[in-house]
Amino acid sequence: MNPSAAKILFGGDYNPEQWPKEVWEQDYRLFDLAGIDTVTLGVFDWALTQPAEDVYDFSTLDAVVGKAVAEGRRICLATGTGAHPAWLAKAHPEVTRVDFDGRKHRFGQRHNSCPSSPVFRRLSAELARRIARRYAGTEAIVAWHVGNEYGGACYCELCAAGFRDWLRTKYADLDRLNDAWCATFWAHTFTDWDEIEPPSALTEHWRGPDHTAFQGITLDYLRFMSDAMLANFVDEKAAIRESDPDTPVTTNFMGMYRPIDYHRWAAHLDFASWDNYPPDDQSAARMAFTHDLMRGLKDGQPFWLMEQTPSFTACRDVNPLKRPGIMRLWSWQAVAHGADAVLFFQMRANRGASEKYHGAVIGHAGRSDTRVFTEVAELGAELTRLGSVSLGARTPARVAILFDWDSWWALDLSDGPSRLVRYQEVVLAYHRALWDLGVDVDVVPVYADLSRYDVVVAPALHMLKGSIATRLEDVARRGGSVLTTFLSGRVDADDNVFLMDVPGPLGELLGVRVDEWDAREASFVNPVQLADGVTVDSRLLFELVIPQGASVVGTYQADWYAGTPAVTRNAYGAGDAWYVGAGLDQAGVSWVVRQALDRHGVIGLYASSSSLSDVEVARRVAPDGRTILFVLNHSAVAVSLPAAVSGVDLLTGIRFTLGDPLRLAPSDVLVLRVDP
Ligand code: GLA
Ligand code: ZN
Repeated sequence: MNPSAAKILFGGDYNPEQWPKEVWEQDYRLFDLAGIDTVTLGVFDWALTQPAEDVYDFSTLDAVVGKAVAEGRRICLATGTGAHPAWLAKAHPEVTRVDFDGRKHRFGQRHNSCPSSPVFRRLSAELARRIARRYAGTEAIVAWHVGNEYGGACYCELCAAGFRDWLRTKYADLDRLNDAWCATFWAHTFTDWDEIEPPSALTEHWRGPDHTAFQGITLDYLRFMSDAMLANFVDEKAAIRESDPDTPVTTNFMGMYRPIDYHRWAAHLDFASWDNYPPDDQSAARMAFTHDLMRGLKDGQPFWLMEQTPSFTACRDVNPLKRPGIMRLWSWQAVAHGADAVLFFQMRANRGASEKYHGAVIGHAGRSDTRVFTEVAELGAELTRLGSVSLGARTPARVAILFDWDSWWALDLSDGPSRLVRYQEVVLAYHRALWDLGVDVDVVPVYADLSRYDVVVAPALHMLKGSIATRLEDVARRGGSVLTTFLSGRVDADDNVFLMDVPGPLGELLGVRVDEWDAREASFVNPVQLADGVTVDSRLLFELVIPQGASVVGTYQADWYAGTPAVTRNAYGAGDAWYVGAGLDQAGVSWVVRQALDRHGVIGLYASSSSLSDVEVARRVAPDGRTILFVLNHSAVAVSLPAAVSGVDLLTGIRFTLGDPLRLAPSDVLVLRVDP
């Protein structure tokens, strides 16, 4: 193994401080066998590195880092602040959180620090500073890993004060705040900043975190909490930068994680990284979406798959085992969508505590002949063989999906029209349609540059911020297509409704007006007949769409509004804008998406074959201009498809010319370098 060769990084979290040094020797011999070139070290070492407030002890970290250096590995070095030590909580009770129900927590668990605590902020930054000072310049360090999976929320007095400061900065005066929060409703007009309380079970909330009397207050608290944790990350990054000006700094995100607005964070990370723990093994499309979302954080730059389990997780009630080939398939899926690193949690299984049954590359017995180890080693060999060809490659997407944390929060918090309409599910249904059609997709924030896209899909774009309405108009004006749905264009950045026809500032683009809507239980179906005569189901939400220039593409078939429009298309400039006013089933969503894409030539190579519905095709274009085509068989049966391009399978070296059969075993992968 040549650890300095440019290639996809391969390895993951390694916590050898839990076992004796003889085992470390065994670990590295196994890493050699598996092609492991990168280890993430020190993620939960705070208590070892700082055993008391005025004592720093680097002996463990020195040994762990020293061994990795001696063994020629690359290191992703953590600051270790994802869990604070017991002495800290005892000496400074302010560092523990107060939860949504108002309970002051005591020492325990992890990801448990109050983000507003001055003591936490000072000591976490100081730890990062000292670690960076000690190890900066270590050539093996390829990235700094700050904290771990930032998340949750705190409702303590320090956070309340921090919230008030954040509000003062945002609104400057109370009149503006009262107006933004629509405070005259229910006698909430604030006359002093100190009257403002964090929205919790003790204040504005009445049935958990999603049920609030004042959406504006809760939204601002979500934004504040996201910013407060971001400030913790920024503290540590600045401390690292004092001694290391260059090495990239990241923190591991969690994909579609609601509490943190990753778009607000993205500019502060040097590259994005995330931990992929899908809810089940039926979610290939959802994983593809999440990879695309994470890639979209940094304008399409490659990201790291920071964690995935090689086999099973431990925290769920039931923890299924990844079937043979699945770990490989999902690893390549990450690469197909933009990953330049494939890392695991974790390298060797924990000895004890809550993750002792979490999967690892090396099990407790340290064997090299387990199925899991063998598959990891095979993947390691493949990645070594691939070398540098895919590094830095970009996804050539001409279709974008807008994803917006504010709309997610606002819709999930909204009283009415329906708690059953979930932002994530709406977005995923529209993405699913694109995925089925083999379309390369960017998932981008609403402030992204939309000029490079032919089609922009904005599912449930509830909140319109900044210039998004006019920029969507621009897409259609120059010949592109915009597709949006029910509950779009309803509220401004304060979550107050536009005092105009629905869909607000999107009305002109969409050429429709909506005066009323109906919400029903999931068992209620109103069939929608589409323009080609096919009828699909719609559920949950039924907007009564009144065309104002748009043509009708689908009509309701039942109830008192039978025969009225549910789906429309409006010619706008040189392009068009599609509006889906009903909660169409997947078949309906897929039909509309296909219509909207039709004239743009963006549909994938194998989209027409329904027998290939579980075969995913994704493209990246390498810095040398060569296209790499990833073909991933997510089905449990072998498939054969005619090569749509000529090129070489980089994993086997086999050449293909146009029309040759490409054979994929169940869960198999082809990585084709397309001929120029
Ligand atoms: C998260 C954490 C890891 C570990 C894994 C287990 O991703 O970052 O420390 O707990 O989950 O799945
Ligand atoms: Zn707090």
